[in-house]
Amino acid sequence: MHGPLTVLGIESSCDETAVAILRSENEFDAPEILSSVISSQIAIHREHGGVVPELASRNHSVDLPRVIREACNLAGIKPIDIDVFGATAGPGLVAALLVGNSTAKALALATGRPFVSVNHLEGHLLSPFVRRQGGPIPHLGMVVSGGHTLFVDVRGVGDYRLLGRSLDDAAGEAFDKVGKMLGLPYPGGPEIDKLAAKGNPEAFDFPRALMKEASANVSFSGLKTAVLYTLPKLSASGNPADLPEQTLFDLCASFQRAVVDVLVKKALFALRVSGHDTISVSGGVSCNAELRCALSTACKNEGVNLILPDFDLTTDNAAMIAYVTMLKSRQNLFHSLSDDVDPNLKLTTELNRAKTSTHS
Ligand code: KG4
Ligand code: ZN
Repeated sequence: MHGPLTVLGIESSCDETAVAILRSENEFDAPEILSSVISSQIAIHREHGGVVPELASRNHSVDLPRVIREACNLAGIKPIDIDVFGATAGPGLVAALLVGNSTAKALALATGRPFVSVNHLEGHLLSPFVRRQGGPIPHLGMVVSGGHTLFVDVRGVGDYRLLGRSLDDAAGEAFDKVGKMLGLPYPGGPEIDKLAAKGNPEAFDFPRALMKEASANVSFSGLKTAVLYTLPKLSASGNPADLPEQTLFDLCASFQRAVVDVLVKKALFALRVSGHDTISVSGGVSCNAELRCALSTACKNEGVNLILPDFDLTTDNAAMIAYVTMLKSRQNLFHSLSDDVDPNLKLTTELNRAKTSTHS
């Protein structure tokens, strides 16, 4: 599709109900984000210590019509003015995905406009480029979210080669599990980030797995277990609530330093394998202050370009889903309204080599 294009994207893979509307004049200029509304369910899931899938889908279902209306009002647009509808098709919680995906299909059906199934991971991967002129460039993309840790050779839009991944817990998952062990509210990542700033990162010598291995794979389960085994040694009860405040800060700082050391080393390794000279980082963990700082320093020392997403594009949002919808529309890659969602969708499978539709 050429010329001016307005797209609406819906994200509902986990615990954020999000809708964004983007407009671009042509295929070269960065699109304008006309609206990006995120309705977070964190408060609902927090009392359960993590995301409860059934609560997530029910709340998406209740909230989504309001969020769509708000996104349309902010953009000054009616659904009939939208050229293409897109929605996350996976990976994620199946019933949660179905809410956003089916709603976008219903809007496409009612308006007669095309539909794009979006891979959530592709949304994260390309999110650092949403506001950049010229769009995505070939580079090494590091996706660090609650569900995934991936090092990806990005050769072009839809042309991805997986160079490394976590063999067990994703980086964000490790933050959340350690946060829970330390008695911090869900999600643990932002809490640990805050408390780590007051702690000594060398107070505890936590393991960094696979550092000597010539691969871009990472593993965080040993690190998580090391924190678990350290706790009973620090207070008679083993209860994190009984830890001296400074010890809690030191635990957070030492754990975070171990994660960041691994991610920075493996990102540089994957970069060398890819042959690129640019790294991007995306996903919820890319908000982390120490990770951003350590990557900036390492990339400066190595003469590597670093592209960090704006904070509003790091955790789950629909602007990144609408952005992929826009890029696919420019390539005339649309999907059938009969296409299913896939809770285990991989970054390197079908959607990216999407079925070309005759819709135009
Ligand atoms: O990308 P995202 O919103 O959702 C997934 O697709 O998983 O990522 C959420 C993850 C959670 O694990 C959360 O703890 C983590 O990102 N996170 C952080 C920070 N902010 C969010 N981890 C470390 N430091 C942060 N500041
Ligand atoms: Zn995500």
